[in-house]
Amino acid sequence: MSIYFKETYQRSFGTFPLKGAELHDAIQHAAEVGYRAFDTAQMYENEADTGAALKATGLSRDDLLITTKVNISNFTEDTFIPSVEQSLTDLQIDKTDVLLLHWPAPDGNIAPSLRLLEKAAKDGLCKHIGVSNFTAQMMRDATSIIETPLVSNQVEFHPLLNQDILLAAASETGIPLASYCSVARGKVFDYPLFAEIGATYGKSAAQVVLGWILQKGVSVNTMSTKRTNIAANFDVMDFTLSSVDMARIEALTATGYRIVGKDLVPFAPDFD
Ligand SMILES: NC(=O)c1ccc[n+]([C@@H]2O[C@H](COP(=O)([O-])OP(=O)(O)OC[C@H]3O[C@@H](n4cnc5c(N)ncnc54)[C@H](OP(=O)(O)O)[C@@H]3O)[C@@H](O)[C@H]2O)c1
Repeated sequence: MSIYFKETYQRSFGTFPLKGAELHDAIQHAAEVGYRAFDTAQMYENEADTGAALKATGLSRDDLLITTKVNISNFTEDTFIPSVEQSLTDLQIDKTDVLLLHWPAPDGNIAPSLRLLEKAAKDGLCKHIGVSNFTAQMMRDATSIIETPLVSNQVEFHPLLNQDILLAAASETGIPLASYCSVARGKVFDYPLFAEIGATYGKSAAQVVLGWILQKGVSVNTMSTKRTNIAANFDVMDFTLSSVDMARIEALTATGYRIVGKDLVPFAPDFD
């Protein structure tokens, strides 16, 4: 994994649930403020729009880190590789930088889809592979099922949810975490603590939240449609939260606010 990858992947621009002109404008703004990592998925049905919007930015392909995710409906021998090839066609690229399994297989048997993911890498369809929504045990199991290193487990991660079990699994397995729902889809703004802490660093509440995630060793994935929010979310590398402030934020993880659970996604695993 290159240093460019490590640094760039720390801040990805998410594309769900955007499509069409709204997605085009958001990607344009994101590229202008400096984002080079972009996150899409087969499930979002916006890979073609994402590919067109990225092309329109005029950025060199070599500078971009493009992540897409294979939908569970494509976890079969017959459909996995063709579905990735279709993603590449839609994205107008010949390989993705990161290819993730969007969810663990609903029956809990993660081996077949992991092996197909590894095959996609060996076939040259992606540079790196990873997973999403894996539990700690699945992370541990994955390392003994395939040999290719996993560059991320993309999971719900924000200060209103304790993910210590996954963080411990990340240290143990060497599979880094990446966040989604990083600002808990706006729920974090109900808590004045973030703006209060931000005032002492000259940063907004959202920037404090994202800074906290980064300081936990987790890459950040955020989505916004607004130019000012997009710019703010990218501008999070020039401050360090004190251990006292980290602990004040940490206390909120006891809230246990999970957005993407079984009520939203019936095939979600039993999360840690
Ligand atoms: N792997 C998975 O299963 C999975 C699941 C969910 C999401 N994801 C990925 O993760 C990305 C991010 O997650 P998410 O979009 O669900 O949640 P999120 O980033 O927590 O929330 C996005 C919402 O927060 C608002 N927001 C963002 N930055 C803000 C700021 N600085 N100030 C105020 N409001 C702000 C945005 O509104 P405005 O547009 O008004 O700024 C938007 O409505 C997705 O786009 C997707 O790519 C992956």
